[in-house]
Amino acid sequence: MSLSPQFLDELRNRTTLSALIGKTVKLQRAGKEFRACCPFHNEKSPSFYVNDDKAFYHCFGCGAHGDAIRWMTDQRGLPFIDAVKELAAAAGMEMPAQDKRQAERDMRAKGLREAMEDAKAWFAEQLHGLEGAQARAMLERRGISAETARAFGMGFAPDSRTKLRQALAEYGDAMLVEAGLLIAVEGKEPYDRFRGRLMIPIGDVRGRTIAFGGRIIGDGEPKYLNSPETPLFDKGRNLFNLDRAQAAARKTDRVIAVEGYMDVIALAQAGFAEAVAPLGTAMTEHQLERLWRMADVPLLCFDGDAAGQKAAIRAAHRALPLLQPGRSLAFVTLPDGQDPDDLVRGAGSAAFEALLGKAQPLAQRLWEHEVAAEPLDTPERRAGLRRRLTELAQGIGDPMVRDEYASEFRRRFEEMFARPARQFQQRGYDGPRGGKRGNWKPPPRPVGTKARGVHASGLDPMLARAVLAGLIRHPAEIARHMEVLGSLRIGNGALERLFAAVIDVALEARQLDSDRILTILEQSGFDTVASELLRADTLPFSFTRKTTDEARARADLNEAIAVMVARPAVEAAIAEATALVNVDETGEAFARQVALLRQRQELQARLANLILADEEDFDD
Ligand code: UTP
Ligand code: MN
Repeated sequence: MSLSPQFLDELRNRTTLSALIGKTVKLQRAGKEFRACCPFHNEKSPSFYVNDDKAFYHCFGCGAHGDAIRWMTDQRGLPFIDAVKELAAAAGMEMPAQDKRQAERDMRAKGLREAMEDAKAWFAEQLHGLEGAQARAMLERRGISAETARAFGMGFAPDSRTKLRQALAEYGDAMLVEAGLLIAVEGKEPYDRFRGRLMIPIGDVRGRTIAFGGRIIGDGEPKYLNSPETPLFDKGRNLFNLDRAQAAARKTDRVIAVEGYMDVIALAQAGFAEAVAPLGTAMTEHQLERLWRMADVPLLCFDGDAAGQKAAIRAAHRALPLLQPGRSLAFVTLPDGQDPDDLVRGAGSAAFEALLGKAQPLAQRLWEHEVAAEPLDTPERRAGLRRRLTELAQGIGDPMVRDEYASEFRRRFEEMFARPARQFQQRGYDGPRGGKRGNWKPPPRPVGTKARGVHASGLDPMLARAVLAGLIRHPAEIARHMEVLGSLRIGNGALERLFAAVIDVALEARQLDSDRILTILEQSGFDTVASELLRADTLPFSFTRKTTDEARARADLNEAIAVMVARPAVEAAIAEATALVNVDETGEAFARQVALLRQRQELQARLANLILADEEDFDD
């Protein structure tokens, strides 16, 4: 509502400021003014002045300054409009007519609010009554405790068209329709909107019920039925669980946005109270702004399916114009096909916490999305990538953040298409004859979801298994790498013994083929492990598969061995540098740590390059 400047001036003129302030602060006359110890800060000698002619107060100590309205908002803590109303009443002024209409709207909203609260209470009663048995069973099946259900005010809408209408009859059909609780169709009696559903109340910032989400019991369509937009409920401006999450976020200094109501509820039960969800729509700018009021870098944790990932990218794009220095988003990727509810129920809170710890920064997420969007095997396609990245950066509103994105994308692009990791290859192990690898080089491949999965689960045992499988498949390579393989510490007893056995076999026999290795291993008691490795078609490398071209398989295997051999040294050096960082004041350890982490990343990237992109998995 807007009040005219004339009205506000009149209000100031008719209010005697010293009388208003004098109600709560002891004022002393000082010439034309009044003086007091400042009510806004602690002081012993008075530096707070009130001037009735100019109609303002001022403190020379802390700078507090304002008029009568400001006094009411800052000192009494009233919302602006309430401050005006109270001053107007005291001055005997009538609020402008516009505000009367507002007052009517307020009255009606009050009726709607009460209807919503009553509906919530009635639904809750049904959940705990006779008819609620099925809904209670569903909660139990989903592992939701009675306490959690109570904390979220959950309820049950019986499968009836009239029961809620009867229970809330005192409000009248018109109001219940406006509240979205009844559906009105021309020429028919209004009837209950929610029937046979588990009811989840949706609150506003202050926790007042403004809408409901209703989940069907069992299977059926639609799975969730939500309240329509009403005078109380604006989908795009609210988030489910906002009030509770806000309080929790203040303590944990983070906020997690998930896709579904049940995700929020399951997370709360698992100890993550700071989760919210949009209300069945894509994340809006208002909702992003709300999230940023809770934490500088909200975590977006959408479902690990295609739809969830698409929603995440949409939110990322929507955030770009709103970014500011220090204000961003981070993305948590869930295992394929899982939502946060499945995850905490299956793997537990610690697993979820670990995933949160690995959240990807916005820039990284955008980069990976664009890199994976298309093959990058021609100059035109690479130029296309550059253009997309540039456009993304251009979409950022804040000039400083925009610059940073532009240069970060440029740097990543250059790094990706420069010769890979040359610096490290010079120092690291690079094949048996000092780096003379074949001319054939696998083209760089985008880091797909599979590569990310490998990162996440820690790849050493998997890499070792893959290399072993590759060696058995391409025995000629064993001899070439004999020495370094012999000195390798795998850190996994069974694999290490198998490595040793394979090398022993190679040492003894001159002519080796896969079958012969398998026979010998079988005789040494390794039969099942080894043949299982050979059948390990699930490993995503060219050298662990049957039908790929031999040259590429061998080149890839060489590269994998180089990475595997280089890793332990880098890990050890990182551990050493990390231990020194806190005690070393020269900053040298820190610089070294950074350089080493970079080396580790390069190794990861080299490995990721070897991983077959998803579509390649299916050609053979
Ligand atoms: P999902 O289909 O991922 O459901 O929808 P879910 O949260 O995993 O639910 P459960 O575990 O099967 O009970 C995610 C969100 O999308 C909205 C709801 O807000 C839901 O929580 N949605 C979904 C609807 O609004 N209507 C629908 O029919 C389905
Ligand atoms: Mn779910």
